[in-house]
Amino acid sequence: MSIYQIAVDGPSGSGKSTLAKGVAKELGIMYLDTGAMYRTCGLAAIKRRIDPKDDAQVKRLMDEIKLEVKFIDGEQHMILDGEDVTGDIRTPQVSVAASDISALPVVRTAMVEMQRSIARKQSFVLDGRDIASNVLPNAKYKFFVTAKASTRAERRLAELQERGDFSQSYEEVLRDIEYRDEQDMNRLSAPLVQVPEAIVINTDEHTIEGTRDLLLSYINEVN
Ligand code: DC
Repeated sequence: MSIYQIAVDGPSGSGKSTLAKGVAKELGIMYLDTGAMYRTCGLAAIKRRIDPKDDAQVKRLMDEIKLEVKFIDGEQHMILDGEDVTGDIRTPQVSVAASDISALPVVRTAMVEMQRSIARKQSFVLDGRDIASNVLPNAKYKFFVTAKASTRAERRLAELQERGDFSQSYEEVLRDIEYRDEQDMNRLSAPLVQVPEAIVINTDEHTIEGTRDLLLSYINEVN
């Protein structure tokens, strides 16, 4: 079969990563988490004590750092200046820095270029905010995964706690989600948008497994 791409866009905590990963596994294709790339830029800013909203400082940062995406046994690893930081990019601080830094065009241009170059080589499921609208407008399948902010906050809290991170309360997680929604949807550069042709999946009403099967059934229908 020829190379094709599946775009899975949606807000923070909608369940899109779990879903995209499950769909990729089921179809035997690769999965690219584009949020992990913005998270790595956010981590780089934190490490160098740079304001992730400051255009000039971030521009310099992007010139200086070396960011690589490696696939080891099919799993995506984020490499920052030669160091594997995959395990360091899921903290609440990195989430906020990633949302801030991803609003800057200098960051988006660099990440989008990398994403396109990766997705050109093999069939991929990509998840993010602007995959269907900007990164791969010709993706074969486009999904928009969403859920209420309260459901997404509950999921994010459970995820953090599963990882042994009890630093945030439900209210704090919800506040972060609302902050990121506001920024991700209202930034000038490639905001989160639902393209008209996307199939909308609301995960409030289904389990993740149920949603994955629903998505696969749409894909099979088109094939
Ligand atoms: O999906 P995530 O929560 O790991 O993403 C982290 C941040 O990166 C999120 O606040 C928005 C940004 N992002 C983006 O702007 N575009 C993408 N394609 C993916 C993520």
